[in-house]
Amino acid sequence: MPLSYPVPRRRFLAAGLLAPVLLSADGRTSAVPTGQFRRRTVPGGMFTLGVASGDPLPDGVVLWTRLAPRPLEPGGGMPDRPVAVRWEIASDERFRRSVRRGVVTARPTAAHTVHVDVRGLRPAATYHYRFVVGDQVSAVGRTRTAPEPGRGPARLRFATASCQNWQDGFYTAYRSMVDDDVDFVAFLGDYIYEAVGGPTRLRDHIGAGQPYTLEDYRIRHAQYRTDPDLAAAHAAAPWIVSIDDHDVDDNWAGEWPADPRVREKVPFAARKAAAIRAYTEHLPMRLGPGGRMYRRLGFGDLATLHVLDTRSYRSMQPRSLRAASRPARTMTGRPQESWLVRGLAGSGARWNLIANQVMMAAADRGRRNFDSWDGYRAQRRRLLEFLGTGAVRNPVVLTGDQHATWVSDLRPDFDAVDSPVVAAEFVGTSITSGGDPDIAGFHREHDPELARNPHLRYADNRRGYLLGEATREELTVRLRVVDTVRSPAPTTTRTAATFQVADGRPGVIGTD
Ligand SMILES: [Fe+2]
Repeated sequence: MPLSYPVPRRRFLAAGLLAPVLLSADGRTSAVPTGQFRRRTVPGGMFTLGVASGDPLPDGVVLWTRLAPRPLEPGGGMPDRPVAVRWEIASDERFRRSVRRGVVTARPTAAHTVHVDVRGLRPAATYHYRFVVGDQVSAVGRTRTAPEPGRGPARLRFATASCQNWQDGFYTAYRSMVDDDVDFVAFLGDYIYEAVGGPTRLRDHIGAGQPYTLEDYRIRHAQYRTDPDLAAAHAAAPWIVSIDDHDVDDNWAGEWPADPRVREKVPFAARKAAAIRAYTEHLPMRLGPGGRMYRRLGFGDLATLHVLDTRSYRSMQPRSLRAASRPARTMTGRPQESWLVRGLAGSGARWNLIANQVMMAAADRGRRNFDSWDGYRAQRRRLLEFLGTGAVRNPVVLTGDQHATWVSDLRPDFDAVDSPVVAAEFVGTSITSGGDPDIAGFHREHDPELARNPHLRYADNRRGYLLGEATREELTVRLRVVDTVRSPAPTTTRTAATFQVADGRPGVIGTD
């Protein structure tokens, strides 16, 4: 039976009058109203992991928080029982114009995370939200709903980010993203890393070895969320997240771990279930039917974001070019492929943005990566030929994974120069993974590849993110890079390059 905790309206209004408060002092306790249940106390300082929002709709958005007074411990330091959490969303930062409010139950079975799928909001509007337990008030988050279907907007701003290995540095890139005033952040995979760091690591993960159990993955997610720059980025805009390999296990594919011959202490199916459960608990997502993670979000008639899941349904990575070319191999599985194709053709949007995890453009012959779309060539060709029919308006692929920026023109046959360009791909760099770059070494290795492969238009290995701005005429993508991730101290973020895609003209038209 679901527990419910009716909250006396008077008490809630009183809490609503509190000015935005950050965190309560540690160790305090506060009374929680529990309706017909007796008053119980809960630990103080529960909002250590901040707030987040995600998956914006024209009339709604998912709000998230987790109660965790001691986030790096099993259970987050919470008692093993449900706790009532009040939430409130307002059109102003001081909560004078409250729009919606309610009570949600944080349960131990979900690590006391809460997801509130608020509806009844206005389209293309900025809101502020917070959570309250007793006299403890969370940080205030800012979010934004999507524009209405069939209407503008004149422009849409977004960021893409990926690959934030805790061990490799500090999340300084998020500092300037907070000021970018984006409509959404698309996170394209490797939100956490399961891997153990090397000897040059800058920060340690909690726990020895890799995570295997639900508790291991929960602690890993909690640890990442204690980073103040990441927390600030979540509080600044709605995120639209997608999963990649390190969120579970390096290079996993469908039912298979990277190397099925290695016997791990936990069977892969159980490990994957634990990792995905912790992931969905900790991120502000709205899952599709059957818990699926591929989903579509519309932004008026200007853009549609098609969010792929290129891990859960894929064939195992091939070992040879012959195997990589087999038509039966799939990156997405059949149902997701037809969902994508139908959605691309029918979106009605000016820009069809595809949130993708692994590089779609062919890498140089000498450096084939069969974990990327290079290992799933028949499906790639089928998809790119479909884009070449003109059935899809302005397809643009947004990707992570490479720990470097790669800007490419996509063509059905990358080996044929007369194969038409059908789309552009922007592979964003990492937030931290790989650490501070060896810039000269990267260009020594990869500049000859750019010269040999006309579809590869630009490559760079500095840390940072991509900032996109779509209008009816063009899509502009700026590469934003930081000076260093070695220190949490302030660093400079600069625009290293700017790219354009024009409406009605596939591929990248300008780089500077
Ligand atoms: Fe990565």
